[in-house]
Amino acid sequence: MQFRELNLSQEILESVEELGFTEMTEIQQKSIPLILIGKDVIGHSKTGTGKTAAFGIPAVERFTDTKNLTVLVLCPTRELAMQAHEEIRKFARYKRGVKAVAVYGGASMEKQIYELKRGANIVIGTPGRILDHIRRRTIKLDKIGYVVLDEADEMLNMGFREDIEAILSEVPEKRQTVLFSATMPPAILAITEKYQRNPVHVEIKTSQKTVEAIEQIYYNVAMGRKTDALKLLLTAYTPASAMIFCNTKKMVDDLTEELVKSGFKAVGIHGDMKQSQRTQVMNSFKNKAVEILVTTDVSARGIDVNGVDAVFNYDLPQDNEYYIHRIGRTGRAGHTGTAYTLISGRRQFYELREIERYTKAEIIEKALPEKQEIISMKKDNIISEIVSYDSKISEANEILERLAESGIDYRETALRLISEKLKSDIENIPEFERPRPLRKGKKDRQTVKVDINIGRNKHIAPNFILGALVDATGMSGRDFGKIDIFDTHTTVEIPESEQDYILDTTNPMKINGNKVEVKLYRGTDKSKTDRKKREYGNRKRREMYTDYIPDRKKRMKKRH
Ligand code: CDP
Ligand code: MG
Repeated sequence: MQFRELNLSQEILESVEELGFTEMTEIQQKSIPLILIGKDVIGHSKTGTGKTAAFGIPAVERFTDTKNLTVLVLCPTRELAMQAHEEIRKFARYKRGVKAVAVYGGASMEKQIYELKRGANIVIGTPGRILDHIRRRTIKLDKIGYVVLDEADEMLNMGFREDIEAILSEVPEKRQTVLFSATMPPAILAITEKYQRNPVHVEIKTSQKTVEAIEQIYYNVAMGRKTDALKLLLTAYTPASAMIFCNTKKMVDDLTEELVKSGFKAVGIHGDMKQSQRTQVMNSFKNKAVEILVTTDVSARGIDVNGVDAVFNYDLPQDNEYYIHRIGRTGRAGHTGTAYTLISGRRQFYELREIERYTKAEIIEKALPEKQEIISMKKDNIISEIVSYDSKISEANEILERLAESGIDYRETALRLISEKLKSDIENIPEFERPRPLRKGKKDRQTVKVDINIGRNKHIAPNFILGALVDATGMSGRDFGKIDIFDTHTTVEIPESEQDYILDTTNPMKINGNKVEVKLYRGTDKSKTDRKKREYGNRKRREMYTDYIPDRKKRMKKRH
């Protein structure tokens, strides 16, 4: 069914057509007509099925009182509110005088108040901030006739239940309430019972989407172990054709060199290379002469290679769109593919969550495969290779017969050949040292200090130092002790038992964009360096931080 077949005003049809929509999606077909006649609706369909237009189009069609605020849309996050706001603005484009305003936390209150005062007819926002405005009386609810709970399941997940109920209980009872959600947990049905009037439940069971052809996995590894982790994955899964994405040209060069050194057939490509060279590299990858292409986003743009079966995000992309673009290099034309993403530390974990929300796909965490697992994969591979082998030649037969004559029967021959193959497979599995979680509560642990060649001159604060150490090593913030920041260097107490591991994973390491070197600290309390430290301490204010624990920032700020 097309939008044209609905009894919509010319202004709306025009804007909808401008957006390129002609056919309605299923959820739109089933819910828009009901909403247009004033019914309360519960819309249940998966992400990406067009729920925004399902509630947004009726909103701008029916609620066009330009003097008052008549429509309230609640969304779970700032991003989703912004997105819904954008979309609704587009639908309202030709509806004169209809003004939509977005309000969400983390943005300037004054600006939002200013926008609201200029006369908003539709407010789209997060429950917390909307409630703030209601309390300040910058949002008035008395003329509201239409309330939307968008992505209701996510709002409940984010703990907005009380805020939602507080808002709904203040909106005039004579109103229309619609709720849209990708899932329908019982908590949502409870809300619908309490705040909707005879709602019609519309459910769409959708078939698979294209991105589902791509399995998306991530691994949380120490920054200093990313290259090892990548090698382990390449060895375990042996993709016949893989693209590896890095964020910088330098990283492309370094990583390619490292992979080649370890025996992988890899080539790198980036914008600093001559065009002829790039073409040559691309061709060797396209015709499968090399298995691995290491690249930046820019040089990968627009290239279309068939049969890429794995994409690796060695660096997390800086932009959500890039993520989609990158992983879309695999799983093309009806094939399946896998996207592997490496992340280090909490910040990247949250960035990945953001990507997940944006792409509306699930990215599953996995642990790096253990050696034993890889060996069993290799065994499976050998079996399937032998099963599907079909280039037998008669000379092979002749060799078999001659071997049999000298007392080595077929079985023994097979055993020797298989052993040879498996042995080299096993030998090629790279070692991977995992960060060991340190036993807790061992206060009397032996410690040593490391020295990092960055200090106050680069405006370094302890949280930068600790953050970098945690990301690089994958250890916990609690495993590190006292951090002393001097003018040009910093010392950090570390557990003695981990010193080799820490020195290894932190070289190289970056702090706040500066490449730093981490060494064992050789100074003692009575050495010259330390006397100097005391002098600095007297001359300038010295920052001393003890037992820094990242999530209890306030406790550690003891300035001397
Ligand atoms: O909210 P939900 O996850 O169901 O999906 P959405 O955020 O509304 O996204 C639906 C996407 O499909 C948007 O990019 C729309 O522009 C597009 N679309 C639509 O909503 N309706 C159509 N009839 C055609 C396309
Ligand atoms: Mg939505």
